Amino acid sequence: MLLSPLTPETALDELVERLVEPGWCVLPGFVPAEMARELADQARLWQNEGLLSLAAIGRGDEAQVREAIRGDLTRWLEPGMTPATDRFLALSEQLRQALNASLFLGLEELESHYALYPPGAFYKKHLDRFRDDDRRTITIVLYLNEHWLPADGGELRLYLPDGSVQDVQPELGTLVCFRSALLPHEVRVAHRERLSLTGWFLRRGEIPW
Ligand code: OGA
Ligand code: MN
Repeated sequence: MLLSPLTPETALDELVERLVEPGWCVLPGFVPAEMARELADQARLWQNEGLLSLAAIGRGDEAQVREAIRGDLTRWLEPGMTPATDRFLALSEQLRQALNASLFLGLEELESHYALYPPGAFYKKHLDRFRDDDRRTITIVLYLNEHWLPADGGELRLYLPDGSVQDVQPELGTLVCFRSALLPHEVRVAHRERLSLTGWFLRRGEIPW
């Protein structure tokens, strides 16, 4: 049983620094293995109970399922669902406060979901911004797969501003963080089941008057 999800200051400092420049970072072991395993178990439990559903693209009226673009199953997190998911939300809150304190980003909330890619699933190259809503500011992805091998595919491929690409293995406990409007990215075809938690820190919207 984990007593606290608190992340060492050094890891937070590194994350904040690297979001400024180059605008993204990959932090292996950001979350303790025990906590990541509990989160993975919860996703599998919900999958067995039929509580994950085919992901949509876009939002509101534009939301539609398009498996040719993404084939993952998701479930949105709410506070109070399970102790494990609440620990993830507490850790995310710690991150949000660190980002606001250092970078004055005015991040107001997190929206987050589990994502399960069955074998053969992928998510084509995209940006994490909706056409009609630019509040998504920082993307975080926490991976929940033990002993991931290159042959398993399923890499996150980041398209960097200098034209190069950076591939990330979705290994248990690794956290990826990047500026949502900056980096197009894709999930390459996974050859085994691939689990993650994805979150977006939202900035406040325009004043409605
Ligand atoms: C997403 C996404 C990346 C990943 O859900 O928008 O790009 O590695 N996920 O799971
Ligand atoms: Mn994305």
